Amino acid sequence: MSETGDLTIRLDDLGYEAGGRAVLSGLTLQSSARRIGVVGRNGSGKSTLARLLAGLIAPSSGHISVAGHDPYRDRRAALKTIGILFQNPDHQIIFPRVAEEISFGLRQQGLDKAQASQRTEAILTSFDKLHWKDAPVTALSQGQKHLVCMMSVLAMGPRLLILDEPYAGLDIPTRRQLSRHLHRADTRLLHISHDPADLADYDQLFWLDRGTIVQQGTAAEVLRDFTAEMDRLGELDDIADLAR
Ligand SMILES: Nc1ncnc2c1ncn2[C@@H]1O[C@H](COP(=O)(O)OP(=O)(O)OP(=O)(O)O)[C@@H](O)[C@H]1O
Ligand SMILES: [Mg+2]
Repeated sequence: MSETGDLTIRLDDLGYEAGGRAVLSGLTLQSSARRIGVVGRNGSGKSTLARLLAGLIAPSSGHISVAGHDPYRDRRAALKTIGILFQNPDHQIIFPRVAEEISFGLRQQGLDKAQASQRTEAILTSFDKLHWKDAPVTALSQGQKHLVCMMSVLAMGPRLLILDEPYAGLDIPTRRQLSRHLHRADTRLLHISHDPADLADYDQLFWLDRGTIVQQGTAAEVLRDFTAEMDRLGELDDIADLAR
């Protein structure tokens, strides 16, 4: 399949083990939906799935393909096609200043210094944040760091953008602005969240629980069942799941 071909995501009996136990097991799915949502409780394996899809870690078993490529084995294709926004901006940011951080990904994609700096200014301007250009990242709040990560990844123009809890720690106006930018960008989204409200208008949803897919379907179906189960669990006093 060519790189300009469709962007189907395929997981075939995917498994991932860490610390001597199965974090994900037997994940099989195929999706060409434009906006995919993944819901699940803390520790269900969502961030691990995000890293596998972006090709940052290798599966322990099974196979992943995004647009016909294995994202771990074919890093060049993955870098061109897939963007990921980490749950924790401190795991994403490596440079001391905002513009350097945004430019880095663009240089990785093969842009020269001048092109990268031009595109960096363009994305900062589109978010009305050109004044952040030389700001030290350490001086930014957690929410502002999140926004820097979002701008960095959007600047790279990914065809599939994986968002791992993208709104965590952001206030309501910033959330709304980001959501508008995301939905305007010409990119497919795979959005991970434990908050049903974030995913209500998504095209297809997967519910991940204890490392397996327990339900897939429309947002209305999956969120109805997920919310009912979360409400039920919320009534219990047992927090043993967090200690798994
Ligand atoms: N490298 C690793 N070594 C040991 N355990 C790991 C590793 N990676 C993930 N895990 C474990 O796998 C489980 C799933 O982790 P993951 O971060 O994918 O969950 P999550 O659904 O993203 O949770 P949250 O909603 O809290 O972000 C957790 O119990 C975690 O401790
Ligand atoms: Mg997570």
